[in-house]
Amino acid sequence: MYHNLDLDHIDLTQEPPKEEPARQCYFMAKAKKQVSAMCEAAGRPMTFHVETFGCQMNARDSEKLTGILTAVGYVPSGTETADFVIYNTCTVRENANRKVYGRLGKLKRLKEENPYMRIALCGCMMQESHVVEKLRDSYGFVDLVFGTHNIYQFAQLFCQALESDAMVVEIWKDTDRIVEDLPAQRKYPFKSGVNIMFGCNNFCSYCIVPYVRGRERSRSPQAILEEIRKLVEDGVVEVMLLGQNVNSYGKTLDQPISFAKLLSQAAEIPGLERIRFMTSHPKDLSDELIQVMASSDKICRHLHLPVQSGSTRILDKMNRRYTKESYLDLAARIKKAIPDIALTTDIIVGFPGETEEDFQDTLDVVRKVRYSSAFTFQYSKRSGTPAAAMEEQISAEVVQDRFDRLLTLVQDIAREECAVWEGTTGKALVEQVNHQDESLLTGRLGNNLLVHFPGERSLIGKIVDVHLTECKGFYYMGEMIEWLYHQ
Ligand code: 5AD
Ligand code: SF4
Repeated sequence: MYHNLDLDHIDLTQEPPKEEPARQCYFMAKAKKQVSAMCEAAGRPMTFHVETFGCQMNARDSEKLTGILTAVGYVPSGTETADFVIYNTCTVRENANRKVYGRLGKLKRLKEENPYMRIALCGCMMQESHVVEKLRDSYGFVDLVFGTHNIYQFAQLFCQALESDAMVVEIWKDTDRIVEDLPAQRKYPFKSGVNIMFGCNNFCSYCIVPYVRGRERSRSPQAILEEIRKLVEDGVVEVMLLGQNVNSYGKTLDQPISFAKLLSQAAEIPGLERIRFMTSHPKDLSDELIQVMASSDKICRHLHLPVQSGSTRILDKMNRRYTKESYLDLAARIKKAIPDIALTTDIIVGFPGETEEDFQDTLDVVRKVRYSSAFTFQYSKRSGTPAAAMEEQISAEVVQDRFDRLLTLVQDIAREECAVWEGTTGKALVEQVNHQDESLLTGRLGNNLLVHFPGERSLIGKIVDVHLTECKGFYYMGEMIEWLYHQ
């Protein structure tokens, strides 16, 4: 979904422009010509598939890759049996890496049967030099490898890969650059992620992200608000503002601005109905933000506030820069100011040196905060991070046992928190037809709960009032209010 992208009038006899995004538009025009020639030779359209691993940031990056592939003439295949397959990888935990290697084997076989097929890899995993070495040594059938910092160069690298028999590899160690105004093709017409910043400066001791996503860079508020306005013009009613640590947004800009200010400016955009954001670091969450959230009904009643551990001792070793008590105090202040808020979190079990007592502190925080849901992870050793070199790594059996106990508690509380809404009415953004039952629609409430209810598919993308009739554990069955009136 991109306006003003006229690739057919770019003069390819000229040298490519030096400045961005004009340079990438030039390469898109060039790629379009090449793709069109391939379609003609094959006597069929060229298809693509983008597979996303990992977080919302990657999901948004994948929309940008999809935007470019669509602009140059590829059509989506929906499966990996396609002419261009790209994996947008994650490396936050070891099993994400394992998955990619496993699936590459299958792609190799598909490529042997399809002379037009090209395979590309990008994303966080590619920022690790041992990964690129392994790809060069054992996965020579991959055509293109690039990283997180130069994703905006995709069109240019794609052209290079089409012309080269060897694997094209372009990885940057870091960047201070943000390229605006490249196309993106949204997964949903009515909602979109919007990057507000890139990278992370926090260096939590277990986390690879600062090494693979680089230093924190904020986009200008003007560019962000303009992007949101354009999205709204294009039918978007809900945006998710994305950053690894949105609460430190804007601090390093020439004209510093707080995240709370950005949020209130976004909330003023006419036609925008809902705003979400992700992720908040507890150490940087300001009273100003709590106030802005409390006073705007456009900002969803959902806050993802990763705690990681409930033990002050472990939090210190994790370099999280808050304590159990300060986190609990923050959660209490948020709940007091916004009583209907849903708090969600990320928790790691089995961090090096975690004792049963530390783990009990984590359970205690879960009991006190009462999360609406939580992502629970077993600690995964990431080479190059300080925690990987720590002594007292915890045995797999102990980690599994703690993980199971944590999950049981998290789920019990999440069920209870979900049930409190039974009999109330909420506003749901209708996202899709229910996967299991076509007579039902699936909507998302502001607090992120899902509700399934009878309705016409023409309501997809609309916000409707839904009566939450029956709690089914972690989601609801409901009835639309207008629907009730029309009976
Ligand atoms: N091991 C386990 N979980 C991790 N996370 C980040 N790094 C690791 C790791 N090495 C989790 C954190 C973070 C989420 C995105 O992934 O909980 O909030
Ligand atoms: Fe990783 Fe910590 Fe940055 Fe989150 S805040 S991306 S956990 S280093």
